[in-house]
Amino acid sequence: MKTALITGITGQDGAYLAKNLLDKGYKVYGLLARRSTPTTWRLGHLGIERQVELIDGDLTDMSSIMRSLQLAKPQEVYNLGAQSFVATSWHQPLLTAQATGLGALHILEAIRLSDSSIRFYQASTSEMFGLIQEPRQSEKTPFYPRSPYGVAKLFAHWSTINYRESFGLFGCCGILFNHESPLRGIEFVTRKVTDAVARIKLGRQKELRLGNIDVKRDWGFAGDYVEAMWRMLQQDKPDDFVVATGRTTTVRDMCRIAFEAVGLNYEDHVVIDPQFYRPAEVELLLGDPTKAKLVLDWEAKTQLKALMEMMVEADLVRVRKESS
Ligand code: NAP
Ligand code: GDD
Repeated sequence: MKTALITGITGQDGAYLAKNLLDKGYKVYGLLARRSTPTTWRLGHLGIERQVELIDGDLTDMSSIMRSLQLAKPQEVYNLGAQSFVATSWHQPLLTAQATGLGALHILEAIRLSDSSIRFYQASTSEMFGLIQEPRQSEKTPFYPRSPYGVAKLFAHWSTINYRESFGLFGCCGILFNHESPLRGIEFVTRKVTDAVARIKLGRQKELRLGNIDVKRDWGFAGDYVEAMWRMLQQDKPDDFVVATGRTTTVRDMCRIAFEAVGLNYEDHVVIDPQFYRPAEVELLLGDPTKAKLVLDWEAKTQLKALMEMMVEADLVRVRKESS
């Protein structure tokens, strides 16, 4: 039986990855950052809360990372923990740098010092492409981050490559484009939309306030994307991969699809609110997942329409339960 340690196990991807690895027969440990209220609802939603071992620790505290490696003795570490909300990274740039950037280096150092045979996955991001330098972004596209979050992720990305080249660590970066699910945090735009669609449909809300709806994203389903993470760590050689659908859609069209799922017109409900505009925007993301298909035999299975319908359906169930 293989053992994996996941940072960010309470997040969207952490929960799906934990389930995916348990289904493959792994023993799964997760680093659990201490909060004053419970954060394990996603693990509960997937019915795996009791099947994973949670270890107290924080990415900003390297001693807790060392301790978690000693306790779990993993063959694979997946670093999914981060302050991951781009908008917040302008309000908390130092925290973002420490958790999202330096946090990865803490793990790399801990692995180097304790057991350099551990395979390491870094959750890199399409946000690193920022002000895009090519119309379709691949592993070869130069980076130009546009947010403190993107800058912190780029530090973690290059640190992983540097430890691979300097010390021979088996470190892989998955450059994942946006991926969503019913377990997505409510602050991200897809989930903000599907939650509002459910509330409007059930008469609990009238309008939905959004920022720039002309930006484009390459959106896939998180459940598909965690499989690509695992496949990267099963290769003979460590490498970096873009994980994307290869299709891009405006926030406006994503909204239209979500409202249409319940027979509503988004134009009757969406209000543009400047407070949701960002100081610097990433206008367009469109991934080229050719390498992931060729080397990992991975491709996105879920289309945006099916994804939005899945999320709207889950939010309708949630909102109905709230008042019952
Ligand atoms: P998420 O839902 O925001 O989850 C983030 C996780 O990190 C949570 O478990 C959170 O714990 C944990 N965390 C935050 N600060 C921490 C700290 N200081 N120490 C330990 N844990 C900490 O993010 P996600 O959507 O699952 O994304 C997973 C990873 O992939 C992130 O690194 C994200 O930046 C990256 N990524 C995501 C996407 C995407 O579209 N989803 C695309 C590319 C890359 P709490 O629950 O306690 O807050
Ligand atoms: N959140 C949010 N809320 N975004 C809005 C809104 C709004 O009201 N209105 C418009 N948007 C636009 C944002 O300006 C952004 O261009 C786009 O919708 C997507 O925003 P998010 O869903 O917050 O995601 P993101 O693209 O900024 O970041 C996500 O994807 C990255 C990968 O590209 C996060 O998951 C990051 O952690 C991830 O790295």
